[in-house]
Amino acid sequence: MSNGQQKVVETEDGKAILQIALDAGIPMEHACGGNGFCTTCMCKVQQGMEHLSPRNDREENMGVVNDPERLSCQSQVHGDVTVEVIEY
Ligand code: FES
Repeated sequence: MSNGQQKVVETEDGKAILQIALDAGIPMEHACGGNGFCTTCMCKVQQGMEHLSPRNDREENMGVVNDPERLSCQSQVHGDVTVEVIEY
């Protein structure tokens, strides 16, 4: 979470990071509505990159191609993951 705050959230398998955050009341920008056409939902994956869905075409088209950055709306969670929310 922001300002060094941390929040642990339990969720169902296969949900996107953006949706998990919003459902948990964690503010996360999402200008394009979670469709992979902006980069405002970009987060930094601190742990568990291997538990995320593979990087997809939309992320590559938006230039989000280097670890630890991922688009939260395009990254489905399949295990324990720790992410840093980027504030704007
Ligand atoms: S909300 Fe726009 S790319 Fe994720």
